[in-house]
Amino acid sequence: MPSYIVLLGPPGVGKGTQAEIIADTTHLPHISSGDLFRENMKENTELGKKARSYMDKGELVPDNITIDMVKERLQRADCKAGAILDGFPRTPVQAGALQKMLSAFHSDVDVVPYITAAPDVLIDRASGRWTCKAQGHIYHQKFNPPKVAGKCDIDGSELYQREDDKAETVAKRINIYLAQTAPLVDYYRAQHKLVEIDGTQSIGKVTDALLSAIRK
Ligand code: AP5
Ligand code: MG
Repeated sequence: MPSYIVLLGPPGVGKGTQAEIIADTTHLPHISSGDLFRENMKENTELGKKARSYMDKGELVPDNITIDMVKERLQRADCKAGAILDGFPRTPVQAGALQKMLSAFHSDVDVVPYITAAPDVLIDRASGRWTCKAQGHIYHQKFNPPKVAGKCDIDGSELYQREDDKAETVAKRINIYLAQTAPLVDYYRAQHKLVEIDGTQSIGKVTDALLSAIRK
């Protein structure tokens, strides 16, 4: 039986960090809509150019563009056993589209870990984040520093700061999250899929809580 896990939570709460870890443990692919957009931006594809005009301002990329991109990704063979979705769905329209995509595979979302933290914590985390150029591995200058400053521990590539991690853009992303994504909390709670996780704990404690939510 495939398992589709949706990581829900505000920008900077630790979805990407946790998805990397639990992808290793569960052997499920980590699908981050933000990473897919950033890869397209790096390669300067038409999709990347379109996405950049929204992302750099901290706004959501339109639903139709996002849904088509994730649908294509979920149809690949490595998602047959399930996937860890990070940053998708982010609107009620995307949640409906995901349900439709998965029902085509005779499947559904199994569990929605909802990681929470207050805005001051989110701004602190995003403003100290360093991201690896090659594969998007995630560091924090204080909370999860690389062994060698400016270099990824895993692939040695250069680390950079995301354009949308400026304090004012993060604040805007949090407001957009509250307006457009927060309604999904009630949507998945009503389906008895939501498991709340305190995202202010250490990275290891959050992982423990996530794994226990997934294994239930
Ligand atoms: P996306 O890339 O998805 O960004 P996000 O959801 O805003 O989330 P972040 O990646 O900023 O945070 P995270 O929760 O992954 O935290 P992380 O693990 O890095 O989206 C970017 C943009 O793309 C959007 O604004 C939009 O334009 C577009 N987009 C993407 N998906 C879309 C969609 N579905 N629809 C429309 N548009 C879409 O951690 C943050 C920092 O904290 C790191 O430095 C990390 O080391 C540190 N940290 C993590 N956990 C802890 C901990 N427990 N303690 C201390 N530090 C921690
Ligand atoms: Mg992320």
